[in-house]
Amino acid sequence: MSVVASVSDKKGKDPSIQPLVDLMSEGMEAVNRLILSKAGSNVEMIPEIARHLISSGGKRLRPMLTLALAEMFGYRGEGHVTLAASVEFMHTATLLHDDVVDESDMRRGKLAARKLWGNQASVLVGDYLLGQAFKMMVDVGSLEALRILSEASAVIAEGEVLQLGAAQNVETTEAQYMQVIEAKTAALFAAAAEVGPVISNADAAMQQAARRYGMDLGLAFQLVDDALDYGGSSADLGKDIGDDFREGKITLPVILAIARGSDADRAFWKRCLEAHEIGDGDLDGAIERLRQTDALADTILRARTFGQSALRALEPLPAGPIRDALAEAVEFCIARVH
Ligand code: IPE
Ligand code: IPE
Ligand code: MG
Ligand code: MG
Repeated sequence: MSVVASVSDKKGKDPSIQPLVDLMSEGMEAVNRLILSKAGSNVEMIPEIARHLISSGGKRLRPMLTLALAEMFGYRGEGHVTLAASVEFMHTATLLHDDVVDESDMRRGKLAARKLWGNQASVLVGDYLLGQAFKMMVDVGSLEALRILSEASAVIAEGEVLQLGAAQNVETTEAQYMQVIEAKTAALFAAAAEVGPVISNADAAMQQAARRYGMDLGLAFQLVDDALDYGGSSADLGKDIGDDFREGKITLPVILAIARGSDADRAFWKRCLEAHEIGDGDLDGAIERLRQTDALADTILRARTFGQSALRALEPLPAGPIRDALAEAVEFCIARVH
């Protein structure tokens, strides 16, 4: 049975990342120990800030991809644990930086580090974590894994900068939006997945398939995240709803609503997102317009398309419980919307 069919057969049961969490529990314990030890420093503020964010949880989706796709190819050793920890450090660093750039107040259900320690400390501790991530990658000794992850690190920064240029411009196209989310989010999912078969010396076709899986999962993940910024709940997400709106970020839901709305709607979006004139009730007005134009539903549909592509990418990979859990993780990322 195809992976696509096997997942859609599980109707009636909420998809979950729990099977992946269970399968990777031993490795993730080692990852978490390493994360805590590498977040240490004699400079007091560093472990304080790092531990604040790390102890708040997070789904640990990206490091689980690294572990799962290494174990799938029979990896022996500790290198996958080290790479998984470095992947999570890269992610944590981008969150610290991203919350400064986005002026976000909440992260992982708590006040964002920048609200507690300030923007300067958040940026600098993010840099520290990034440095630690690269030191760990070097420890593993795979130049290819180092190449893949360092490339991702540069691409993420490029994506965030590209988004700065696209923000607050209602002319932003779908193609520009896709370019931004591929760079800022999907590139790390892709790299996290690809390094698994790379350090396991799996053949090039397997490395490519893992990369495709991670990339498409990452695209689906960010599309859903952008829908949730209007249609989700702050309690579920652990971050404030409406951040993208207040910040003037042009995401796919908005691009679709603008294309499908009237001239008056377009004027509304321009006033809010470009001129930043946002009053009481405008977020509700935005959500109403997104619903009326099916913009949220169609964003989720787009995520589903990438989800299907991620599932297809899994097909050539070795069948078994890990592949099943990776398939269910795709469904989980899309179903976060409920
Ligand atoms: C948040 O990623 C940043 C985005 C790409 C939207 P996650 O939702 O995976 O963050 P944590 O690690 O679980 O908090
Ligand atoms: C996610 O950016 C990608 C990175 C953190 C690089 P967003 O700004 O869209 O994500 P949230 O909403 O802050 O988690
Ligand atoms: Mg943000
Ligand atoms: Mg951002």
